[in-house]
Amino acid sequence: MAGTFSPVVGSLVWVEDPDAAWIDGEVLELNGDNIKVLCTSGKTVVVKASNVYPKDAEAPPCGVDDMTKLAYLHEPGVLDNLRSRYDINEIYTYTGNILIAVNPFCKLPHLYDNHMMAQYKGAAFGELSPHPFAVADAAYRLMINEGISQSILVSGESGAGKTESTKLLMRYLAYMGGRAAAEGRTVEQQVLEDVKKYKLGHPRTFHYLNQSKCFELDGVDDSKEYIETKRAMDIVGISSDEQEAIFRVVAAVLHLGNIEFAKGKEIDSSVPKDEKSRFHLNTAAELLMCDVKALEDSLCKRIIVTRDETITKWLDPDSAAVSRDALAKIVYSRLFDWLVDTINSSIGQDPESKYLIGVLDIYGFESFKTNSFEQFCINLTNEKLQQHFNQHVFKMEQEEYTKEEINWSYIEFVDNQDILDLIEKKPGGIIALLDEACMFPRSTHETFAQKLYQTFKNHKRFSKPKLSRTDFTICHYAGDVSRRI
Ligand SMILES: Nc1ncnc2c1ncn2[C@@H]1O[C@H](COP(=O)(O)OP(=O)(O)O)[C@@H](O)[C@H]1O
Ligand SMILES: [Mg+2]
Repeated sequence: MAGTFSPVVGSLVWVEDPDAAWIDGEVLELNGDNIKVLCTSGKTVVVKASNVYPKDAEAPPCGVDDMTKLAYLHEPGVLDNLRSRYDINEIYTYTGNILIAVNPFCKLPHLYDNHMMAQYKGAAFGELSPHPFAVADAAYRLMINEGISQSILVSGESGAGKTESTKLLMRYLAYMGGRAAAEGRTVEQQVLEDVKKYKLGHPRTFHYLNQSKCFELDGVDDSKEYIETKRAMDIVGISSDEQEAIFRVVAAVLHLGNIEFAKGKEIDSSVPKDEKSRFHLNTAAELLMCDVKALEDSLCKRIIVTRDETITKWLDPDSAAVSRDALAKIVYSRLFDWLVDTINSSIGQDPESKYLIGVLDIYGFESFKTNSFEQFCINLTNEKLQQHFNQHVFKMEQEEYTKEEINWSYIEFVDNQDILDLIEKKPGGIIALLDEACMFPRSTHETFAQKLYQTFKNHKRFSKPKLSRTDFTICHYAGDVSRRI
């Protein structure tokens, strides 16, 4: 879009800004390739003409409910529209039949009550304000009327609001299917008792809960949410003993995460670091109902079974921490799988059903201070989803227009095929190289890193952070992420 736009003196434009992403202004002077812009913030900037985008002077101050109504469909226009709507508490916007949700970071109960569901029931798509209920309704109607199974894909970075949106989609589908959820109630006292029972404290004091930004939200009461979760468990038929077991396991995982290790007496051995770590170890063992010494050994030692004997080897503090995290992850993951199975069997999914609506809620794009193989896999999944989205929305649509010889200007989109190739191409991608390295007995983190640095020296999506011997950075569609090998 920027390429085809020729600003003149007086044109209203968007220019890129390091702090605000985009700011608007008016062109003061043209000077060959450079233009001088007076921004509404008061500052004057000189930018390349090819880097400015036209601003729609007639854009309504409250924005438009569908991006396709914008005079110019470019990044600053889209972001400005989302902001204008967010300012008046409109968190949803369409782009054709895609729904964009902006996280409100507060409760909006009036948006999701039974009255709202009744409104969206059977309303033509686009007739009412953009809403997840409208998307769910459209899928439901297509499934019933046309007899075609549907899928709804929810995408976005971690914390963007995918799971909340998924819950809303499910709530609407349950409503249409005649299984509406009941309202919740508060029992503060019970929450306090449970906090004591599981020896929990403020969320900030638990290592595992502080891996990325934490927010306290206005109008969101965690005690209420907790009670509602328990009520929901009652409804799906999880007994109170099972509920207690669930919370014991979750609390134990949190306590496990707070066990730190120090060097022990033996060479390369480890012990819980101090009284605090001992407390968390004891509590974890108590909650998991296992022997505390056995738990400690399982973290600080490794048992190697060979054909003739069983060897017990001490682990150094770093390795013990890795064991601790592995145990926490596997326990949590088993609990999760158990919950999913229990819920699925209790809501009585009909094995005979002819059609279904699949709602996909995935882990979003992640970028932490330290990113491991897990983030690598999560972000690869998100890249693949983005590729699917591109294919679906842009490539297919544009091919259709070309086939039917409809005159249409191509919308520029960033094709992320090059990142997918970098990661998963066979042979030659990062995963293929990792496979190779794993087969090679003398591989170390350094040799693998060297191999990557060499192979992808000139790849524009790959770089090596300065001053690092084993880290590498991948330039994802959603931002750069550096990983430790
Ligand atoms: N529509 C919404 N209404 C209210 N709060 C929301 C909404 N969407 C997101 N949030 C808030 O943001 C948090 C993170 O959202 P979540 O759906 O868990 O993100 P994701 O699944 O994308 O990682 C939620 O716990 C909730 O507090
Ligand atoms: Mg989620």
